Amino acid sequence: MKRAMPPVLSHFQAAVLLTARQQKEKVVAVSLDLGLSVTEVQLTEAGVLLPNGRLLAWTQVETIAANELGCFLVTEAEIEKIQIFSEQFNRLYSLMPTMGAPTMLISGIPMHRIKGTDPYRDTLTKIQAVAPVMGDVLDTTMGLGYTAIEAAKTADRVTTIELDPAVVEICRHNPWSQQLFDNPKITRIVGDAYDVVAEFEDGRFSRIIHDPPVFSLAGDLYATDFYRQLYRILKPKGRLFHYVGDPESKSGRNVTRGVMRRLQAAGFTQVRPYPHAFGVVARK
Ligand SMILES: C[S@@+](CC[C@H](N)C(=O)[O-])C[C@H]1O[C@@H](n2cnc3c(N)ncnc32)[C@H](O)[C@@H]1O
Repeated sequence: MKRAMPPVLSHFQAAVLLTARQQKEKVVAVSLDLGLSVTEVQLTEAGVLLPNGRLLAWTQVETIAANELGCFLVTEAEIEKIQIFSEQFNRLYSLMPTMGAPTMLISGIPMHRIKGTDPYRDTLTKIQAVAPVMGDVLDTTMGLGYTAIEAAKTADRVTTIELDPAVVEICRHNPWSQQLFDNPKITRIVGDAYDVVAEFEDGRFSRIIHDPPVFSLAGDLYATDFYRQLYRILKPKGRLFHYVGDPESKSGRNVTRGVMRRLQAAGFTQVRPYPHAFGVVARK
């Protein structure tokens, strides 16, 4: 069953509301879910009357408009910036708006590519790298769940793993991540992908999407023994996409070379760069 989500707004929607107020509109169409859909709201002297009966004060709209890096949950009495500090991993996570799907900032660094693209288009390139995405799919690192959600459009089943429970909490407040909780094809596991993959049976997955943090933060997920596990749990003829990073950068080039060498050592064949999605593809 779908959960009813409170409205979530960013500076993009706040700007629409403030412009409409200036133009003395009484009703305006605006998104209350970061651009997924559009709803009509009423403008009053005191603020914006939302469909759930909540009056969002103009001072609150102005606070949202002034923050270009944050997304705000409109709760019954307040507005709350969507951010969580993870005590376990000593990191601050926050949802950052873009013209399309939001990304997540991990201690200030965006989780998706946003230069010249947006998180949703970035996701599509990763999925296209192993198209057709079918059968049982493993998404090794969930993040905001965009790769898992996109894969679930054509796959039979998607399993997605996330290390930090605080990331799952951010997803609960992100309208674009809701299928992680609603889509019966998607199974979420909280754990370390390094340990979790060792538990899957041989040859289970038709496709693996491996979109880890950068090498310097998650070296285990770039190691030959981890790749051996990915090879073991992939079906014969199954395909892997491995995100690596900008192939034009010096570090991206070096990491790509090392990743390709270790994937081959782990048994993968047809190991090729896939620069369009900043990654590498391989087959079993
Ligand atoms: C680049 S993001 C993944 C983005 C994701 N594909 C999406 O569509 O939003 C990497 C994620 O991996 C998580 N992570 C880091 N180390 C991990 C591990 N060892 N096992 C599972 N997840 C991990 C991070 O917390 C982060 O959420």
